[in-house]
Amino acid sequence: MRVLIIGSGGREHALAWAIAKSPRLNKLYIAPGNPGTAQLGENVPLRATDIPGIVSFALEHKIDLVVPGPEAPLVAGIADALAAAGIPCCGPSAAAAQLEGSKKFTKEVAEAAHIPTAAWASFTHALEAHEYIEAVGAPIVIKADGLAAGKGVVVAETPEEAHEAITAIMEDKVHGAAGALVVIEQCLVGEEISVFALCDGEDAVYLGVAADHKRVGENDTGPNTGGMGAISPPPWATQPVLDATMDKIIRPALREMARRGTPFRGFLFAGLMVEHDGPKLIEFNVRFGDPECETLLPLLDSDILPALVAATNGTLAGVKLAWRNAASATVVMCAKGYPGAYATGSEIYGLEEAGELPGATIFHAGTMADQGGILANGGRVLAVNAIGKDLKEAISRAYAAVDRLDWEDGFCRRDIGKRAL
Ligand code: AMP
Ligand code: GLY
Repeated sequence: MRVLIIGSGGREHALAWAIAKSPRLNKLYIAPGNPGTAQLGENVPLRATDIPGIVSFALEHKIDLVVPGPEAPLVAGIADALAAAGIPCCGPSAAAAQLEGSKKFTKEVAEAAHIPTAAWASFTHALEAHEYIEAVGAPIVIKADGLAAGKGVVVAETPEEAHEAITAIMEDKVHGAAGALVVIEQCLVGEEISVFALCDGEDAVYLGVAADHKRVGENDTGPNTGGMGAISPPPWATQPVLDATMDKIIRPALREMARRGTPFRGFLFAGLMVEHDGPKLIEFNVRFGDPECETLLPLLDSDILPALVAATNGTLAGVKLAWRNAASATVVMCAKGYPGAYATGSEIYGLEEAGELPGATIFHAGTMADQGGILANGGRVLAVNAIGKDLKEAISRAYAAVDRLDWEDGFCRRDIGKRAL
């Protein structure tokens, strides 16, 4: 098979790493890829959102399967454009990608499918939103409806904070058009988990559970990031919680999407709060998580490629994936300053030695190659993963690999997985 992966982060390096192991693979391309993916296939200089460019490339190179990593090309309709050209794509149509593109849409799907989730209301007028906050009080969660680079959610502890969020999103338009509508939600209390499934429009196959670490600082302080690290499995993701997630959240959502005539295919990411009476849906994303993908794929014992193909042609019901009886931890190494301004161009040493340590795999994210060396070229630069017999071993192995790296301008959180232990 000839496969094209779309994206350039640690998630796409992990997808390339898993797909490259498949005996069915003949040729792997990654657009645009990074120096990590270049070791597994051929990088193609096309932007992830250059849909016409990607479709022409796929036709010209007789691609059998396209695997988009990030949400932007999916929301922009890459799966539709590929379908029109007769090329299978392991990702949702633009209509189905609204599960990530619009919070209100997700809430409506959840309501129609009786999925447990926080009580909510939506507003297009700031005045009515302010009045609602006065009526219901705090804590309360304010969300810009559209995509806001992961910064569109404010968990307000007080009514004042909630009013400020409404002013910023609806009146000052800090997220532009994404904030023309806001969803206001009841604040859920519990432990967060992310559950992943591969979907073919009707059926879903479980891909694992992880806990992300979103804040930049230790003990969950400081601004939000794309994710500073992840562990799997978090101890609070018990079997009843996972069963309830598949049976009461993921499968009902697939049925409702199919009923609407917009079946969901591809990776479905359910962000959940585990409350005392079970998991509640916080959000769906229509893609694998990053760094969750780098955390879960090293645990997979099966060839992923036939499962990705099955997701595109409606045959997932016959697919069984085998998983290692192990735990996994990923520590993200970032450029100093991230998620604010940071410098690029500093050299990273020791990548090969670190990647050879027991259980360790180093995934590239924001790196670039320069005269045989690897330089930092982004905010999140490396995802350092390790698997082990339990979480304690996985975490200590991941930090052993981090400590083997020599990169003056980098930093990471030192407490990934600490709460789980
Ligand atoms: P999102 O961008 O939807 O992932 O939201 C960002 C974060 O806000 C989530 O990971 C949660 O920590 C938090 N959050 C979102 N909705 C709620 C809610 N209803 N109750 C409590 N926390 C929430
Ligand atoms: N790590 C969270 C995400 O990929 O959205």
